[in-house]
Amino acid sequence: MKAIVFDAYGTLFDVTSVAEVCDKQFPGYGQQISEMWRQKQLEYTWLRALMRRYEDFAAVNRGALQYALHQLNLWYDNEMLNTVLASYLTLPTFPDVPQALHALRTHRLAILSNGTQGMLEALVRNAGLLWNFDHVLSVDPLKTYKPDPRVYQLAVNALGVAKERILFISSNGWDVAGAKSFGFTVGWLNRRGKVAEELGIRPDYEVANLLELIERAFR
Ligand code: LAC
Repeated sequence: MKAIVFDAYGTLFDVTSVAEVCDKQFPGYGQQISEMWRQKQLEYTWLRALMRRYEDFAAVNRGALQYALHQLNLWYDNEMLNTVLASYLTLPTFPDVPQALHALRTHRLAILSNGTQGMLEALVRNAGLLWNFDHVLSVDPLKTYKPDPRVYQLAVNALGVAKERILFISSNGWDVAGAKSFGFTVGWLNRRGKVAEELGIRPDYEVANLLELIERAFR
């Protein structure tokens, strides 16, 4: 493997952590909002890509949160919305991330994500990880979303490495399918013990955390 490319949300950064800030603003609903919000956020990226009506991830994320709040009949104002949305810039990393990035430091590392360039850079900087990555790549310039193969091609272009020599790592089953279909070597970080997607596309590795992946793919 010449380079390693990571998905961001749910893979390096724990999106379920937003349940806490949601619960502060909407007591008793944190968990529900967080789950519905993430699901809608993903659906809206796929819908916008198919309709060719791109809006950036910040806008998609806001719309998805509003949907969840409406669905749960929760009143809110702009300030509450902005407070909750800001949590996306300070998501914590999963506990295995710092050690894994350190172990992989001699490889070329990149992030490839649906997030906007601004969101991703803030997120990575706030986590103190800016210097760990050679590239932080956003779908922004393409104005579409994963799993469009053109998105995965962004990493190939940036790294100048053949796609099968790139190990792409994601915890999101649909992203794993998209990346494998594109032609990357793929590691599915199955952090939450989910069942595999039935799309006829399987990853090269399935592991529970990054350290296990390093053990399997690099030793
Ligand atoms: C990403 C989301 C989809 O970071 O997990 O691209």
